[in-house]
Amino acid sequence: MNVITDPKALQAQCLTWRNEGLRIGLVPTMGYFHDGHLALMERARELCDKLVVSLFVNPAQFGENEDLDSYPHDMEGDSAKAEARGADVLFAPPAGAMYEPDHATWIEVPELGKHLCGAQRPVHFRGVCTVVAKLFMLAQPAVAVFGQKDWQQLAILKRMVRDLNIPVEIIGHEIVREADGLALSSRNAYLTQEERAAAPAIRKGLLELADRIRAGEDVAAAKRGLAENFAASLPMGEVDYIEIVDPERIVPVEEVDGPVLAAVAIRMGRARLIDNILIEV
Ligand code: PAJ
Repeated sequence: MNVITDPKALQAQCLTWRNEGLRIGLVPTMGYFHDGHLALMERARELCDKLVVSLFVNPAQFGENEDLDSYPHDMEGDSAKAEARGADVLFAPPAGAMYEPDHATWIEVPELGKHLCGAQRPVHFRGVCTVVAKLFMLAQPAVAVFGQKDWQQLAILKRMVRDLNIPVEIIGHEIVREADGLALSSRNAYLTQEERAAAPAIRKGLLELADRIRAGEDVAAAKRGLAENFAASLPMGEVDYIEIVDPERIVPVEEVDGPVLAAVAIRMGRARLIDNILIEV
């Protein structure tokens, strides 16, 4: 595996591969790999000839009071894990290499960013879209794999690719979980023992809500029920949102007449945990 830090060098390498008729797969990440990241790499590996994994903690997607400076990292461990999953290139540019000091071009999909995480994190998805578009220009992938854990991110990136005719196929990968149901996240490292022990209640609550929706309970009552459930099962958690949305348009629904996505964000100590479930009725 080749570690590349210079964006131009990545672009040159990928252009050569494309000219040779090779299919490039891309898995964008911010590092501190867990089995969720590794599952995306394994999926991408099956779909391409050359696998590029990017590791870049993108300052543009962090708000003022977020954890940019303390975001966990382990370059050596990540490098070994990506290599073991068959990555041909680990692209790990230094912070300054991706944005010129006078960077001025942004990509936004505001329609899909009004609710869920977009409501609380105003610049977040603009930063995500811009860096992912840049990575697409650099790596020129035929296919890119993203996790459904960040469902809204995935929906926004699919829309960006459609609207801008970017020639890449976006693949969504199911959420990888701990045995007790907690969705894997680099930010789980922030949880205290007590918070970690309580955290599986997030998944349990979502499963229960899905059952209620399938049984015909109305949306408002189901959301209230989940809020009550979390108040009891996660007393140290603070709910950012509990929402039921259209899975593609990411706008709240009041009635269920097709598939819906239930999504939650809970603050626990230093961590902000998100999870979701697609409910097909
Ligand atoms: P990061 O949080 O490092 O996640 C990288 C990829 O791993 C994303 O596609 C995310 O959805 C996926 N992922 C994380 N946890 C997962 C889990 N438990 N199961 C399945 N997939 C999981 O998301 C980002 O980085 C950034 O916003 C990025 C897209 C790299 C742009 O900077």
